[in-house]
Amino acid sequence: MEKRTVRDVDVAGRRVLVRVDFNVPLDPRGRVADDRRIRESLPTLRDLLERGAAVVVMSHLGRPGGRVVEALRMAPVGERLAQLLGRPVHVLRDCVGPEVEAVVARLQPGEVALLENLRFHPGEEANDPEFARALARLGDLYVNDAFGTAHRAHASTVGVAAHLPAVAGLLMEKEIRYLSRLLEGPDHPFVAILGGKKVSDKIGVLRNLLTRVDAVLVGGGMAYTFLRAQGYGVGRSVVEEDKLDLARDLLDLARQRGVEFVLPEDVVAAERPTPDAPRRTVLAAEIPDGWMGLDIGPRTARRFAEVIEGARLVVWNGPMGVFEVEPFAAGTRAVAEAVARCPGTTVVGGGDTAAAVEQLGLLDRFDHVSTGGGASLEFLEGKELPGIRVLQDR
Ligand code: 3PG
Repeated sequence: MEKRTVRDVDVAGRRVLVRVDFNVPLDPRGRVADDRRIRESLPTLRDLLERGAAVVVMSHLGRPGGRVVEALRMAPVGERLAQLLGRPVHVLRDCVGPEVEAVVARLQPGEVALLENLRFHPGEEANDPEFARALARLGDLYVNDAFGTAHRAHASTVGVAAHLPAVAGLLMEKEIRYLSRLLEGPDHPFVAILGGKKVSDKIGVLRNLLTRVDAVLVGGGMAYTFLRAQGYGVGRSVVEEDKLDLARDLLDLARQRGVEFVLPEDVVAAERPTPDAPRRTVLAAEIPDGWMGLDIGPRTARRFAEVIEGARLVVWNGPMGVFEVEPFAAGTRAVAEAVARCPGTTVVGGGDTAAAVEQLGLLDRFDHVSTGGGASLEFLEGKELPGIRVLQDR
């Protein structure tokens, strides 16, 4: 999937409309709480500015549902962007219309404007052609660097590409390059580590990866549905009762394909997921009645680490337990450290997993940590993402 990128186009003296994913968490005072998505967009923005483009940046923030929500204005994001870029950013109070067009028309090479939250207009999520046309009036060229939003067919990710030459940004290019390596001719041994709450979120990814990997290591809440499907009593652990047959099918598929499917042997169990709850490490088959498994145990963590350290390619998506609560963070930490030590290529999914490795201070120890949550899952399911499809092929 080779797409043209900013490197393939002449941008000097042109106005470039760049879709980024600045959908970042805000703290209770409305300031940016985690600026990784902003930092990851800097290579593209700097490249365009240094080559003499005037840059118009656009993003959504949260889910305002097509109306103005004061708490979701882009101003704090613009402030952070200006600090990181080391140059002023004109933060606009809307994203389309004559006033916005007038400001953008005056923008000089090397200057940056940031449009207001795209989702304040219902036309964005509806991919309304008129709204897409209004956005397209703000640039001579369109760059999509918003990998995290590439699974949404919205006006700023799909519609606008019908009106302007459309190429990928450098972050988009990097995401496609790393995630494609997992699906197209992967190196072996190839190990997938899957966690997170629900099997239902990962069915498509599991099915698609089972045809490619040598081993799957399963932790997190989803492990209990697999354990239950194999006949274990799992106490009050989270189990998706309606997914038990499916879990058995996936275990069969792994067996037929000769894929090693590793489930927790031991778990950290407690009465409830709070720091003060009584807890105990027990065999996965012996979770006491009324207790719930909340992390993988140390024996499982060691077993997972052995498999991970022998891999030439690793993909990890989903925490191994309730890592936000310290007594249940050790399994996720052990897996993160094993992946960080692995000499092969290591790719970490976005969302919760990226948050976990950031919290552990290990972000720089992986080859790639995706900026997409839902987008990286859909990519790994083998779906063609609409925001990538519309970009020009090389
Ligand atoms: C994300 O954070 O996953 C993207 O920005 C997409 O956001 P959405 O799920 O609200 O479309």
